[in-house]
Amino acid sequence: MLRRPRRNRRNAAIRGMAEEVQLSPRHLIQPIFLVEGEGQREEIPSLPGSFRLSADEALKEVENCLELGLFNFIMFPKIPESHKDKRGNYSFADENFYLQAARQLKERFSEICLISDVALDPYSVDGHDGVVYDGKILNDETLHVLQKMGVAQAQAGFDLLGPSDMMDGRVEALRIALDENGYTDTGIMSYTAKYASAFYGPFRDALDSAPVEDDDIPKDKKTYQMNPANRREAILEGELDTVEGADFLMVKPALHYLDVILSMKQHFELPIAAYHVSGECAMLMAACQNGWLDYETAMPETLLSLHRAGADAIITYFAKDFARRYAEGKV
Ligand code: PBG
Repeated sequence: MLRRPRRNRRNAAIRGMAEEVQLSPRHLIQPIFLVEGEGQREEIPSLPGSFRLSADEALKEVENCLELGLFNFIMFPKIPESHKDKRGNYSFADENFYLQAARQLKERFSEICLISDVALDPYSVDGHDGVVYDGKILNDETLHVLQKMGVAQAQAGFDLLGPSDMMDGRVEALRIALDENGYTDTGIMSYTAKYASAFYGPFRDALDSAPVEDDDIPKDKKTYQMNPANRREAILEGELDTVEGADFLMVKPALHYLDVILSMKQHFELPIAAYHVSGECAMLMAACQNGWLDYETAMPETLLSLHRAGADAIITYFAKDFARRYAEGKV
C-alpha cells in the first residue's frame, strides 16, 4: 500500500501537526438572558447551566467569563407582560432595563463585544418578531420599529446588532438608521438564514416569547423564518444581507444545518456565525444526564464540528464549559 492515512494518526504529536481546525474560546459567544430587577439568578429548567440574570448578576457573569477568555456576549431580554404591546414600544424606551444593562456592561468592560437582539417578539403581546395585523406579520411597518430599536441599542453601547426577525430589508434599514444617527462603527450580525425550527423550545421557555395562542395570531413563524428544506434560499438571503451591509452572516440553528454553514462559508467572504440553539444544546445535555453520552467528549466534539463546517463564530450555551476546559488544557 502506497497510501496509509493511519500513518498521520500514529501519535498525538503527528496528529497535532495534521490537525485542520482548532477551536478556542475566542470563537465562542456566550448568551445572557436578562431579567428586570436585582439579585435575580434563576436556572432555566429546560437549559441546565443557563440562568436568567438581573443586570447586577450579569456583570458578575461577564467578569467570570472574561477570566475564562470569553469576550463575546449576546444578550436577550425577558420582558414583563406589563411592558409588552402590539408594536414593541418598550424596546426603545429610555427606561428599558435591557438597554440600561448594556450600558453598564460596556462601561465596566469596554473590551467585550456585546451583541443585541433586534426583533419584536420579546416585546410583543402577540409573541411574533414583527407587527401583527389582521392575522399577518407586516414587513415594512416592522422595519420602522426595528430601526428605532436598533438605534436605541447602538446608543446603549452594543457593538453589534443582531437582527433575528427575518423581515425583508431589515439589514439595509438598520444600516441606514445607524449611519444617519452617527453610529457608523456599530456592526450588524445578521441572522441571515434563520429557519422555522422546532429547536427553539427551551429559549422560548426562558423568555416566555412563544407566539400566543389566539385564532387571529399565526401560531408559527413560517411566513418569515425559512423552510428547513431549503439550502439555496440561504444563499439568496446571504447575497441580500451582504449588499445591505451586514458584517457577519449567521446560520441558525447550527447542528442540523451544517450543510448550510458550509455553503455559506464557500459562497461569501464575510465571517460566518452559527447559532447552536437551545434545543440542540438541551438534546445533548439530556443524553449526558441520562448517562447515554459523555459530556466531556461529546460537548467539545459538537462545537468543533460547527467550526469545521465553516462557522467562524459560534453562539452556544456551552461556551463557559468549553472555555473552562480549554483553560485547563483539556480540550
Ligand atoms: C427570536 C429569537 C429566537 C431565538 C433567538 N432569537 C426564538 C425564535 O425565533 O422564536 C432562539 C435561540 C435559541 O433557541 O437558542 N427573536
